[in-house]
Amino acid sequence: MATASAALKQKGAGVAFVPTMGALHEGHATLMRRAHESGAAVITSVYVNPTQFGPREDFNQYPRTFDADCALCEQAGVSLVFAPADEEMYPSGFAAVSTWVDELQVAKRLEGERRPGHFRGVCTVVAKLFNIVQPDTAFFGQKDYQQLKVIERMVRDLRYPIEIVPVPTVCEADGLAMSSRNRYLAPVERAKATVLSRALRAASESGETDPLQLEALIKDVVAGVPEVRLDYAEVVDGQTLERISRVRPGDVALIAASLGATRLIDNVIL
Ligand code: PAJ
Repeated sequence: MATASAALKQKGAGVAFVPTMGALHEGHATLMRRAHESGAAVITSVYVNPTQFGPREDFNQYPRTFDADCALCEQAGVSLVFAPADEEMYPSGFAAVSTWVDELQVAKRLEGERRPGHFRGVCTVVAKLFNIVQPDTAFFGQKDYQQLKVIERMVRDLRYPIEIVPVPTVCEADGLAMSSRNRYLAPVERAKATVLSRALRAASESGETDPLQLEALIKDVVAGVPEVRLDYAEVVDGQTLERISRVRPGDVALIAASLGATRLIDNVIL
């Protein structure tokens, strides 16, 4: 991979990287097209990273659709797909990892609190992928807002010479943020899941600047669909993800909720 990436770089336009876990959809394709439009050669990785899943999470069920993923990549202008084996990414085995990369500030709250070890797994695998692919730019979706901010901090702290390019969330026609996990939803659940984006839109259109009022507004909308179990609804600083006392432009409202066994996240930049 490193040799192939270096060969692409030789051509002069740089290498843009889009890391994924496969089960690709239009959200991923948008990242790839943005990367392609930047003029660089695009490399995508498809790797379901075991270390970012908790013991009771969906690692085993996570959809694996490699052939369709490759077709989508080709359509979206990707030059190379990197699909490493576990032994390549974790030479000492992922049950006994000897070196972790752990961002400790931005990763602390929200998803980090609910999914212990999740961002440590994400940072570790992204660091490894960056070291192998050595891209000039890397594209991340705002759908996983906290992940994007954690990676930006990791890149700054570890001095990776890589520009992180954020891409806005791509949604279905009814507002549901696209996600590989949406395919877990039964049709009735799928219809109810739109309450997440409705709640966030109500918040962003309210003009309210008191974070507690905004959070109450989001919770009210979600409570209208009792099958949706709210995990958190928080309005936080857009860079640090810390609590704030008054909303300023660039702050963000984040939501996580479960529907049956499926956990969904979404957010809106205020
Ligand atoms: P995955 O969930 O496959 O997502 C890969 C990239 O696609 C992430 O940057 C994510 O934010 C982006 N993405 C997903 N859905 C999107 C949508 N609806 N709109 C815009 N972008 C979207 O995130 C991961 O994989 C992993 O944690 C990874 C970074 C690959 C490390 O294993």
